[in-house]
Amino acid sequence: MGIEYFASKRLFVLSTTHTTYAFYINAMNVPVHLYYGRHVSDNAELLAMDFSADRPAFSPHPEKGKSRDSNEVLALEFSGDNSGDFRVTGVRVVGENGDSASDAFYTTHRMKKGKYAIPGLPAAHAAQSEAETLELELEDSCAKARYILYYSVFDDEDVITRAVRIINISDGPVRLERMMSAQIDFPVGDYDLLSFHGSWARERHAERLPLGHGVRSIRSCRGASSHASNPCVALMAHDATEMFGDVYGFALVYSGNFAIEAELGQYDTPRITLGIDPGSFCWHLEPGEDFYTPEAVLGYSAEGLNGLSRNFHDFVRNHILNAYWSRQIRPILINNWEATYFDFNADKLREIGKMSSELGIEMLVLDDGWFGKRDTDNCSLGDWVVNQEKLGNFETLVSDLNRMKLKFGLWFEPEMVSPDSDLYRAHPEWTLHTPGRQKMIGRTQYILDFSRDEVADYIYEAICKILSTVNVEYVKWDMNRNMTEVFSAALPPERQGEVAHRYIKNVYRVLARLIQAFPHLLIEGCSGGGGRFDLGMLYYTPQIWCSDDSDAIERLSIQAGTSCFYPASTMGAHVSVCPNHQTGRVTPFTTRGYVAQCGTFGYELDPTKLSEEDRMLIREQIATYHRSHDLVVEGDLYRLTPCWKTNPVEGMLFVGKAKRRAMMVIVRRQAVPCGPNLCIKLAGLVPELRYRTGDGHSFYGDTLMNCGYPLEKLEQRDGASLLVELEAE
Ligand code: DGJ
Repeated sequence: MGIEYFASKRLFVLSTTHTTYAFYINAMNVPVHLYYGRHVSDNAELLAMDFSADRPAFSPHPEKGKSRDSNEVLALEFSGDNSGDFRVTGVRVVGENGDSASDAFYTTHRMKKGKYAIPGLPAAHAAQSEAETLELELEDSCAKARYILYYSVFDDEDVITRAVRIINISDGPVRLERMMSAQIDFPVGDYDLLSFHGSWARERHAERLPLGHGVRSIRSCRGASSHASNPCVALMAHDATEMFGDVYGFALVYSGNFAIEAELGQYDTPRITLGIDPGSFCWHLEPGEDFYTPEAVLGYSAEGLNGLSRNFHDFVRNHILNAYWSRQIRPILINNWEATYFDFNADKLREIGKMSSELGIEMLVLDDGWFGKRDTDNCSLGDWVVNQEKLGNFETLVSDLNRMKLKFGLWFEPEMVSPDSDLYRAHPEWTLHTPGRQKMIGRTQYILDFSRDEVADYIYEAICKILSTVNVEYVKWDMNRNMTEVFSAALPPERQGEVAHRYIKNVYRVLARLIQAFPHLLIEGCSGGGGRFDLGMLYYTPQIWCSDDSDAIERLSIQAGTSCFYPASTMGAHVSVCPNHQTGRVTPFTTRGYVAQCGTFGYELDPTKLSEEDRMLIREQIATYHRSHDLVVEGDLYRLTPCWKTNPVEGMLFVGKAKRRAMMVIVRRQAVPCGPNLCIKLAGLVPELRYRTGDGHSFYGDTLMNCGYPLEKLEQRDGASLLVELEAE
């Protein structure tokens, strides 16, 4: 396992426990991709996998070469624009004289133990023994740019990470118009593309479509990874299912504007490129300056989409999440947003706190409205000073809650400013806006120009001031609008294309500083629900509020889609009241609890207004959480029903790594009179072990996996559900 170089063949082979990734340097010094997929044992034979063939004159090639050396014929590790690769390329760099042709030829390479880092950007972390790195150096034939392609190999998780550094080695400035993190060519292949679309309150719905000819672009130019798209996709063999078949995954460790382009070329060759969205990006490089792309994560599994998800979950837990929180059972929280919205005061919070604590809830999160003079969403963002009129002495309130054995959490929206705020009155130039243009407003707020260090530093200090005066153990970091008129008053014209990337780098910098200052602070990411749910944010915020839609039935699709790449332990999920505030739907309290148990678990309601019966159910839910939540945090997740479909009955299963315990949640979306027979087949159990199902029954693992779990106890009504805890005898 690891990285091997066969000098006589100029062949590189990157192996993980179950995968092989190979390319070689051809006679023209071009890195040619050979194979990525299930592990193969004979490396030499991989050289036969260069399928490039002679092609018509319309595919130009180097003067001294053959038509099979055309850049559009070869499967390439990396390719430039305007030099014969007519597909979507990895880089476009324009020289001082306007020359936009770029190519890249191998010059040298280095192999190392451990993992590369990316200055100023989140990237997978690993001990020296956990990863191996290849740095492949390429150079443009006109000495315009040098490229270092980074590859790190993670054996156990069957993952390869990639990133690129470009250095301007010319004598004048260059303009980087496109710099993707990775380009992956498949010499052959016929796949479906699985991607995740949505909108506010309807995030990450999985969509599976055949990859046809042309380019399918999944992108965001909103300044955040967004509700509408998500920076991860899978390529699935047409016959692949949740449990079986070839599936490739591609994800970015990035939270800003991104593009994932999936192309099927004229010779039926699939290509994936992923990185910063070129449409909203441009970077100016003076001679000697460099630029690092965000990190791309590549995975493959022969065990269907679930196999790929499990690899990604392990990878995220081991190498992306903050090690302190990664495997910690998180405190059960109650958030006052849906309980009170802006209508609260200190007494109300004490009341909610008292009842919550009696029920076994462990943390109270005070959401929007505690600062400035904010009683609606039209003022005070940026004025991070406690509203004493509403809350009295804040320290007393927090210590009262602590005395009730409740931790305390607090909401911020650090990147925003209200026009009606002291901050905006003092610094109107601190917002993103184009001079002379009308400013757009969203939720009555502007976006602070986080590309400016002094703005980011000011906000950091303001947050620190609060965290240093009261005992805040959790922060919810929200972001409630997308970017427009992206322009910074602090940057020259040639650097305006850098604003969005500089912005997100400073968001990361503030988060990193907060974690350094408060190492055990739990930060929950949020952007109007799940509008910035990505590996970049997860690097700093071990959980993210998955959606503002707290309806249990809607959450089935949202959480299933999210779970394709992100572990369940990162998905903020709460029980809220019915009729649900977003959909008006009425769902049994038990079902709301079971669905929330498949995420971080908490409440978003006023417990003082609940019936005694519901309060009893809260006690039961909390007992289940304490018994079984380790399975959600550390176990293997199996989606028992295909996430790209709306299934009449949905199933999620968490199996402990030792395979002796499991927890399954089954939900009937809608009752269907005289509907089809239903059968849910389990997975991941030990065939010959007998599992007790908690209702006096027990079944062998192979019965549960091959025949299925009998669903006769699942009531014939909308939103009926079962939670089954399995334990090996
Ligand atoms: C959007 C979040 O997703 C909600 O949970 C809540 O925090 C509101 N913002 C508050 O403004």
